[in-house]
Amino acid sequence: MAIQISSDGRTFTLQTEKSSYQMMADAHDVLLHLYYGRKIAAENLEERIFRSDVGFAGNPPEAGEDRTYSLDVLPQELPGSGVGDYREDMVRLYHADGSCAADFRFESYEVQEGAYRIPGLPAAYDTGEEKGETLVITMRETASAVKVKLYYGVFEKENVITRTVCIENQGKEAVILDKALSCNVDFLFGNWDLIYFEGRHAMERIPERVPVRHAKVEIGSIRGTSSHQYNPAMILCDPAATEDFGSCYGFCFAYSGNFVAGAQKDQRGLTRVQMGINPVQFRYTLAAGEAFFAPQVLMSYSSEGFTGLTHQYHDLIREHICRGAYKHAKRPVLINNWEATYFDFDKEKIVKIAQQAHELGIEMLVLDDGWFGKRDSDNSGLGDWYTNEKKMDGTMGELGDEIHALGMKFGLWFEPEMINEDSDLYRAHPDWALRIPGREPNRGRDQLVLDMSRSEVREYLYERISSILNEAKIDYVKWDMNRSVCDLFGHELPPERMGELYHRFVLGVYELKERLLAHFPQLLLEGCSGGGGRFDAGMLYYAPQIWCSDNTDAINRLTIQYGTSFFYPAGTMGAHVSAVPNHQTGRVTPFTTRGHVALSGTFGYELDLNLVSAEEKQMVKEQLAEFDRYYELTHEGDYYRLAKPGEALMAWGFVAKDQSRAMVTVVSTDVEGNPLAQHVSVKGLAEGRNYRCSYNGIVHDGSVWNSCGLTLKKVLKEYESLLIEWTEV
Ligand code: DGJ
Repeated sequence: MAIQISSDGRTFTLQTEKSSYQMMADAHDVLLHLYYGRKIAAENLEERIFRSDVGFAGNPPEAGEDRTYSLDVLPQELPGSGVGDYREDMVRLYHADGSCAADFRFESYEVQEGAYRIPGLPAAYDTGEEKGETLVITMRETASAVKVKLYYGVFEKENVITRTVCIENQGKEAVILDKALSCNVDFLFGNWDLIYFEGRHAMERIPERVPVRHAKVEIGSIRGTSSHQYNPAMILCDPAATEDFGSCYGFCFAYSGNFVAGAQKDQRGLTRVQMGINPVQFRYTLAAGEAFFAPQVLMSYSSEGFTGLTHQYHDLIREHICRGAYKHAKRPVLINNWEATYFDFDKEKIVKIAQQAHELGIEMLVLDDGWFGKRDSDNSGLGDWYTNEKKMDGTMGELGDEIHALGMKFGLWFEPEMINEDSDLYRAHPDWALRIPGREPNRGRDQLVLDMSRSEVREYLYERISSILNEAKIDYVKWDMNRSVCDLFGHELPPERMGELYHRFVLGVYELKERLLAHFPQLLLEGCSGGGGRFDAGMLYYAPQIWCSDNTDAINRLTIQYGTSFFYPAGTMGAHVSAVPNHQTGRVTPFTTRGHVALSGTFGYELDLNLVSAEEKQMVKEQLAEFDRYYELTHEGDYYRLAKPGEALMAWGFVAKDQSRAMVTVVSTDVEGNPLAQHVSVKGLAEGRNYRCSYNGIVHDGSVWNSCGLTLKKVLKEYESLLIEWTEV
């Protein structure tokens, strides 16, 4: 049983294969957090809580004379607000009389078979025989008719516990929800580090590791997207934890909008970890009878360091988050025209690129930005999703027919959430754009944002996108989003509901994607927000691959893909071979290295193949063969980080689930005179089984490779790379 409940129905232990999580309703019905970590027997752990009279830690009425009982020091599952816990609250309520108070007590529980769903939001789902289990604990607010349901979903095999909350107003008067986080975990003891992933446009998800102390460590976004600046995922770990050893806890938000996440030690050494929708610019009115569902947090624990944690997340995301026809099916290798042409193309150029690509064996042409409306630069046209038939010398249906006649799939770029003021759509519906009356709006890339919470906006987009998909039999859509969101004002919302708009925007985006996918079940969606500005588990529920970064420089990509790999599988990372000198950095790297780096992603090309040499064309053919050869490993295998950015020899690898094969990619990022030996770690091979290494033909037991690694015979030159395979013999 994944969910074990004591005979008095008050202690709950959630069990996965390798981890346990325990909580308990105490004598005053406060739901205490008792344990999260390595798997243990389901024995009550209340004795872990030390009780003493703590100065300036007040006592709730039920405590009577007992000054050792304080909400301000107890580890709690649902810390309230304004009633004596002075640490970070989780759910904050304003009542009809203006008071701000939320005091939650255990009321009842229910166990449900299978994973829970969240209306309108992504959630980890069950597959096949393997069913998760759900525990729902209902908490009552002591002085109002608000109930909070705490959801815990257990995925035993993946060692994942999912969390969310549903806040219900069962009263007769409206209540204002001022903060509604999805999870709170109070770690009673221990010193911790926090690893989060910071970045910027074209340089996303760089890990940063800091100790958790008494000043809050907090990351978040109020950009309307999960953002380039902080990814909505973090690791709390033992300060000694490494890739291979030590306790670590992952928190990954399945949501694509504003978020907050962080950790802080309290005055008594307890560490409170939280994640949820950012309360900044969030204010939700819960009318009588209304309920609010928060987005899901995916929590996972590993006692085996970051690599173990990564494997758990990759398995969960591949099996229980990604959906659709391409969940496990081989993704088509694509050629995208963006860096080949930018806006400067016509039909002839596109068809030539497609023909050339087809001759080399590339499977899909993706026509990027610029095919619609008046769009020869990034200042106009967004919103006018009608083919520019002059530029395309005919209809999109005709172009689709030509591409398909080559035997290729055809993909198209859209940026549905955006509108340019210089567009027919804006001229017809200026109020569809987010802007506050009486204020000049902020412009990003010269564009405004559509109010995706409005049904007529979504209806228009659905009609336009689906009509083009039908007309040209589109196989793939790159769904882009090229600015952050501000100037929030919903022309249709009453003033007291304006604080709901950021969240309603995300719900609108999800609804439109869901509708399109339901209508076009074979469609492959690639997410994108100026590269990786919305690379999150929420988006992966709709788009099994996301353009990892607008930075296609193979050397910068080593850092970006390294950071991305902690939570997200290689098969979700859009990665292309592009031209040199690289358009973002000016760096020149060998064609082979660019291929090797992109092979650890979805794989494709983004350059004008008519401009590459005969030798490089031959290399394209070889790379396509390599992509096929290693697909099973890169897209379904276990991922190992074998070096860190900044090391002169960057390396990573994949091991097949049955451990019969492995591959390692190495890239030399720096060179010195009188070079030292270059040595590569090898991990994950089975002990007691023999493997031949493709680099030197040597056969060793897996234990030997795992412990001794591989010494290169010849030192690699700057930016040179190798792809090495181990095969069981
Ligand atoms: C940003 C994307 O990340 C690029 O790949 C490209 O699609 C441009 N937008 C097009 O405007």
